[in-house]
Amino acid sequence: MSTAQKLWDDVDAYFTSLLAPADEVLTETLRDSEAAGLPPINVAPNQGKLLQLFARIQGARRILEIGTLGGYSTIWLGRALPADGRLITLEYDAKHAEVARRNLSRAGLDKITEVRVGPALESLPKLAEERQDPFDLVFIDADKANNVHYVEWAVKLTRPGSLIVVDNVVRGGRVTDADSDDPSVRGTRAALELIANHPKLAGTAVQTVGSKGHDGFALARVVD
Ligand code: SAH
Ligand code: DHB
Ligand code: MG
Repeated sequence: MSTAQKLWDDVDAYFTSLLAPADEVLTETLRDSEAAGLPPINVAPNQGKLLQLFARIQGARRILEIGTLGGYSTIWLGRALPADGRLITLEYDAKHAEVARRNLSRAGLDKITEVRVGPALESLPKLAEERQDPFDLVFIDADKANNVHYVEWAVKLTRPGSLIVVDNVVRGGRVTDADSDDPSVRGTRAALELIANHPKLAGTAVQTVGSKGHDGFALARVVD
């Protein structure tokens, strides 16, 4: 491990123990996700807390997540919702969805959360057809190649004032490679360009370092 990574880990351990400490539900969520063979690509605890704060700042009653994995970020977000709130999370992999449902149930969030299985680009048009109330926050964290499509759907499924968060937009700096043939880099760059140019979005992106390496978030507000 690099000296820099060791330093980032130490600072994250300090921040997390102080400001985003694990409880039994979060610990067991990660333990069961690992035991089921899911990759450890959940957000860091202090990033989960940041998502929860965004949801609270938004006064979010309805949240959409694209990319559930074992439901770790879902729990941070779901805990920001009122008792009559709603969180819909989209997951391609049936095994991930099953692990997530168990974790959400243990978290006491099964009544307000719903895991929908399938490719998100199939679930999103179905969701739009249901004509539900708009989402107050959308967290995009699935296959990065489709990020531009996910931002487009997020705009359709939100209202002025909603917040769109895109995870993993830096990837150790690979995002700056305009000639990259990596579909994840291309998808993320397309999403950032859409945020920059979309008349209904005002956004930015920030780099982060920490236990998950050098990465970052894009944030976009749907304009009034
Ligand atoms: N948000 C989670 C991490 C998600 S990892 C957390 O922080 O805890 C990305 C997830 O997106 C994986 O579970 C993967 O199976 C899922 N995924 C990949 N491609 C997808 C697609 N086309 N539609 C929906 N989910 C997809
Ligand atoms: C990967 C995906 C993520 O959502 C993440 O936060 C980190 C890594 C990945 O696919 O490698
Ligand atoms: Mg991610």
